Amino acid sequence: MDKEEAKRRIDELTKEINRYNRAYYLLSTPEISDQEFDILLKELEALETAFPAFTSPDSPTHRVGGGITKEFKQVTHQYPMLSLSNTYSRDEVQEWEGRIHKLLEEGVEYVCELKFDGVAIGLTYRQGILIQAVTRGDGVEGDDITTNVKTIQSIPLQLTGDGYPAEFEIRGEIFMPHASFRYLNKFRTEEGEATFANPRNAASGSLKMQDSAEVAKRRLNCFLYYLPDTNLPFQTHYESLQAARNWGFPISDYIARCSSIEEIFEFITMWDQNRKSLPFDIDGVVIKVNNFNQQEILGSTAKSPRWAIAFKFKAEQAATELISVDFQVGRTGAVTPVANLRPVLLAGTIVKRASLHNADVIAALDLHMGDTVYVEKGGEIIPKITSVKLDLRPPDADKVAFIDNCPECNTPLVRTEGEAAWYCPNSDSCPPQIKGRLEHFISRKAMNIESLGEGKIELLFDRGFIKNAADLYNLTYDELFGLERIYVDEENGKERKVSFKEKTVHNILQGIEQSKSIPFERVLYGLGIRHAGETVAKKLATHFLSVEALMQADYNTLLEVDEVGEKIALSLIDFFQLPENLEVIRRLQNAGLNFDIKPQQRSIVRDRLTGKTVVISGKFELHSRDELKQMIEQNGGKNNSSISSKTSFLLAGINIGPEKQKKAESLGIPLISEKEFLRMLD
Ligand code: IVH
Repeated sequence: MDKEEAKRRIDELTKEINRYNRAYYLLSTPEISDQEFDILLKELEALETAFPAFTSPDSPTHRVGGGITKEFKQVTHQYPMLSLSNTYSRDEVQEWEGRIHKLLEEGVEYVCELKFDGVAIGLTYRQGILIQAVTRGDGVEGDDITTNVKTIQSIPLQLTGDGYPAEFEIRGEIFMPHASFRYLNKFRTEEGEATFANPRNAASGSLKMQDSAEVAKRRLNCFLYYLPDTNLPFQTHYESLQAARNWGFPISDYIARCSSIEEIFEFITMWDQNRKSLPFDIDGVVIKVNNFNQQEILGSTAKSPRWAIAFKFKAEQAATELISVDFQVGRTGAVTPVANLRPVLLAGTIVKRASLHNADVIAALDLHMGDTVYVEKGGEIIPKITSVKLDLRPPDADKVAFIDNCPECNTPLVRTEGEAAWYCPNSDSCPPQIKGRLEHFISRKAMNIESLGEGKIELLFDRGFIKNAADLYNLTYDELFGLERIYVDEENGKERKVSFKEKTVHNILQGIEQSKSIPFERVLYGLGIRHAGETVAKKLATHFLSVEALMQADYNTLLEVDEVGEKIALSLIDFFQLPENLEVIRRLQNAGLNFDIKPQQRSIVRDRLTGKTVVISGKFELHSRDELKQMIEQNGGKNNSSISSKTSFLLAGINIGPEKQKKAESLGIPLISEKEFLRMLD
């Protein structure tokens, strides 16, 4: 490709990808699939590497992160980052409005906005290009987190339209939407890592990370709400926000201009009732005087402007008594404290337990046994304790102490520097860790042994039949037949006995047998190596091709693998150093599990489908759909579920849907049979 053509294609891709990003993040109307998006982005990345001079400052490749910041630079704010005076009382809002009215002696218009619950940020643009992003810090100085902020898709790297000042700052809030928060905590639970208490903590924790590629994965979002410069070409705050929207900034649609206290109250009431339906947290409403001249007359105190006030919503709370604290041990040994509460009704459900997350949360609350505590429901299903009613603390109440020893095996707990969680290091013989690992091994995304479940694993462990994954493959019909399980009926507390009959035993053994054909990457994931989740396992498997090669890899070799950083590399080295882990692997190998990608699969040229997007439809004779999908990925192709003009071909089996066939034909997309497909790879 010559220079001219490269420049043209880079410009074209930059514009196109930015447009897709806007459609997705600002307008919530995705125009293409994730896979199609990735293909375009990869093409752009490759061109930018070959022709770096043509990289545009607003290139979407800046968003994937990759920059590591060891320590954030401290930056002084040009305009101090003030906070807002806030109140929970409508009377105080009315008094504030009355004062303003009196002071200004003329009609006042207000702008009512949502109060986003996240992390305040100041963004500076020069000639329309984002040059700096700084946190609030102490209001005078903040951290320069530009590299991390650039990964947030809704924040423009280059402005659109015209009329923006040559250099200006815009402020707003970075937050984590509920969907991202749930996804992150679910992932962390699966990986045995401590969960975040709420979306705000998760957003703030994410922005502090040193590796911006990690930040990019956190799916943060942002709304901008204030331009602090005093020489803007606008008369009002409202106008400035409309202009900012036209320049490409994410500005909330939920903004109202109000001319009376009644209208302000209407906005407050409306959002107090409807805030639960928003896909992110708000903790109140902000009311601002609209006119800049009037704002100037009112001025600011040292802490906050007089022209704005925040009305904060009261969270739905209930007071109850802390009865005790349990400490639960997870698969990786992480210890999570859980509060047992006197049952209390909160937002329509009875609450009996609340997560305390980690030792820091207990310490911050200064929790004592028998305390009367307030519980609230946040972004999570499990409620949290938000405060303690100190005047009701029983005399001589004992402070809740975090345990020093594992509640299950009594081993002294350890804490890694910089991590919130305490761990039980006795991974070898601590019962919940062993059971957790076995449950993980049989889980759907790993070995997918559906005929075993939590209850059966527990029983087999308690009876001494299994201690590790390899023991599963030694189970016999005679051992299993007749085994008795005792259930306690939750409703009436009565015990019920069930014994393993022929069919159950047959299903269990068949499930175990079938798991021997599960591919290497899922076996690797099933081993439950700390921090090696599904994606990492896949990358490791395709990079090293066999467990032997993986075990021999040293630290630097491991770091060469996509997605593998310092933390994962060290965890892998630790895992493969333990003789008991090596022994389990050896036994699993002998049992016939896949610990490599077979040579015949390897010989399939691994880049035959690079850049191709494939849609699979119908039933197939020689391979399952999952196997075919895997082959596509192993050859560098992408799977997609719906046909579009970007689809390279439709891998068509028997009985493909007529709609799909019609669509493919109308777009001129070729239909490829299973046999033709296999020939393509061979
Ligand atoms: S205006 C000088 N508008 O709330 C006024 N702030 O408790 C600048 N916040 O520090 C702030 N939503 O981080 C403003 N719509 C909104 C807001 C908002 C959330 C945050 C902001 C501020 C804090 C004050």
